[in-house]
Amino acid sequence: MHTKKWNRLPKVLIYSLPLIFVAGCTSDTVSSQEKEIIRVGHNQSQNHPTHIGMKAFEEHVESQLGDKYDIQLYPSELLGTQTNMVQLTQTGAVEITVASNSILETFNDKFEIFNLPYLFESQEAYRAVMNDPEIVDPIFTGTEESGFVTVAWLDAGIRNFYVTDKEIEEPADLAGLKIRVQQSPTNVRMMELLGGSATPMGFGDVYTAIQSGVIDGAENNELALTENGHGDVVSYYSYTQHQMIPDEVIVNTAFIDELSTGDREVFEQGFELMQTTQHQAWKEKVEEAKEYAQNEMNVAFNYPEIAAFREAVLPLHDETLANNPSLKTVYNQIQEKSEEIRNQAEGGSEE
Ligand code: GCU
Repeated sequence: MHTKKWNRLPKVLIYSLPLIFVAGCTSDTVSSQEKEIIRVGHNQSQNHPTHIGMKAFEEHVESQLGDKYDIQLYPSELLGTQTNMVQLTQTGAVEITVASNSILETFNDKFEIFNLPYLFESQEAYRAVMNDPEIVDPIFTGTEESGFVTVAWLDAGIRNFYVTDKEIEEPADLAGLKIRVQQSPTNVRMMELLGGSATPMGFGDVYTAIQSGVIDGAENNELALTENGHGDVVSYYSYTQHQMIPDEVIVNTAFIDELSTGDREVFEQGFELMQTTQHQAWKEKVEEAKEYAQNEMNVAFNYPEIAAFREAVLPLHDETLANNPSLKTVYNQIQEKSEEIRNQAEGGSEE
């Protein structure tokens, strides 16, 4: 369905490459010989809120069960791109991976829902939805047939466009621009509706692609400017606020199912701690990133009217629901939740 170049390599080679690498990295195996190694992969740097959340998880599990498990964190795409890491998690070669909800839709179409542009009216609505087990659990725990389940969601803020040489003020400004999007059909279609030219690629390739002029820009949260250095190679960051896409922490199904009840409880506490720690770090780091990108990296921020962007991409909601009617229930639940949050805000209640 979705062609991935590396899929054309022999499977044995695909699966063994990262493992050869992992084996090379784990030279402290003497002390951990008898312990079960739990590999955790993500694509962010060690300063990123995601890594901070992972460290909290590692410390919690090892403080309780350090004699049995050795949690090994692999940041910065050390185990491959997110797509590679999800595949390795499906096979059990990697136990835990952080993957953007965007790319997960190519593994299970339930995830399409959170990739819809302008799905959430506000960050409050987004967080309330993601924190509501009644809404998210059917998706998070309903993907066993794909070889993984979701155990936590991580905040990845709001996605906005950033390009090398102009402000994006209206959809027409995107015409003719090559914009990197994540490898997700929903994101490609979104760009098509906005009139830009979608260039799907992995996160790790974006900096060089902008720098070398292969693309004109990308879309992401503010930490991409600072933590990933994209602010060095673009000049404008435009708050189109088109998506709030969570990162999902996925775990190999067999691994989690085979944990004893007691161990599983410790892992679950760890996942919860990972999530709350990441969310807290996110709120702090995103404010720092806004300051730093503008003041130290000289990226100019602008705040376009979003109505025209919203109108251009709204057909994608109906298209997605028509192609995948099983999403209607969750879509309606999200609308109801948004209304509830809006009413609370209008009623002056605090949150
Ligand atoms: C965000 C998100 C990552 C994702 C990246 C991307 O940084 O947190 O999980 O990989 O966007 O655009 O690919």
